[in-house]
Amino acid sequence: MNFAILTSGGDSPGMNASIRAFVRSMHFHGHKTYGIIRGYSGLVENDIHLLTPKDVGNIIQRGGTILKTSRCAEFMEKKYRQIAFQNLKKLKISGLCVIGGDGSYNGAYEFHQETKMPVVCLPGTIDNDIKNTDYTIGHETAVQNAIEAIDKIRDTAVSHDRVFFIEVMGRNSSALSQRIALCTGAELSISPKDNFPDEEILKLIERGQKRGKKSSIFIVAENEKAGRSYDIQKLMMLKHKISSHVCILGHIQRGGSPVAKDRFFATLMGANASEILLSSSRASTCVALCVKNEHIKSTPLNKCLSKTETYSRDIATLLVKLSV
Ligand code: F6P
Repeated sequence: MNFAILTSGGDSPGMNASIRAFVRSMHFHGHKTYGIIRGYSGLVENDIHLLTPKDVGNIIQRGGTILKTSRCAEFMEKKYRQIAFQNLKKLKISGLCVIGGDGSYNGAYEFHQETKMPVVCLPGTIDNDIKNTDYTIGHETAVQNAIEAIDKIRDTAVSHDRVFFIEVMGRNSSALSQRIALCTGAELSISPKDNFPDEEILKLIERGQKRGKKSSIFIVAENEKAGRSYDIQKLMMLKHKISSHVCILGHIQRGGSPVAKDRFFATLMGANASEILLSSSRASTCVALCVKNEHIKSTPLNKCLSKTETYSRDIATLLVKLSV
């Protein structure tokens, strides 16, 4: 039989490990895999190519996605989903593996509803904000990337007695910002929803100063658009005469070689997706793979279509407790 795989939305380190495992596991069972280029865009535009086991060699350690990715607005329209389906039919595709975030999941769900094409989705986003899974592919690497950058910024913050606002990715998710804050010993993680808590920031800076601490690091979750740290910086200067520096980490967080946990779960999930698509109940398959307590579970896709609450009050409280 023939199967297809695509990556969609923001790339995340580990996607390649999933692609490799899917293609090779299908090959092991005697089936072919087609790679769709640039996510749903390539599916609509028929940019679909056979992937051999050799094609996916030497990629497990690479960040990004060899299949390339995109956010495809056209796929929200039925007309284009029908074109996409015809393209898969021409190649006699019996099932589709989609790696991406909640937007990609919604596209896959609509597609399955209309065409009955079996789909298995893998959580591929650095934001770790998909419902019903503890983990998403790439999150660990993004946290690690940010830690390494912030440790370096801390050196200069301490040397110059500076206050830094360091903005991290994650859009509306607090998962990245809170974990990064905890792992870098930051004073506070300013959540995406927060109106800037300038009084609290001031209190933390003053509390530190009282015991001789002259530098502080605050982690800012980006929200919809990168750059809101500059507003905090301005507010702290105008209202409290606190001078500070801003560093927006940006896409550096999403790149680079995946860390062990991302390679491990991405590989398990890629292989698991192929097994599910090969199972006898394939016709009605419309699932997402989730990690719960370190185990992979298959969950009906309609239970994973929305974002999950990522803000942890416990982590917020702990940060303040530890940043004395
Ligand atoms: O959703 C993944 C993500 O990396 C977010 O953390 C970030 O806000 C967004 O994508 C950035 O998207 P783009 O690379 O398209 O600007």
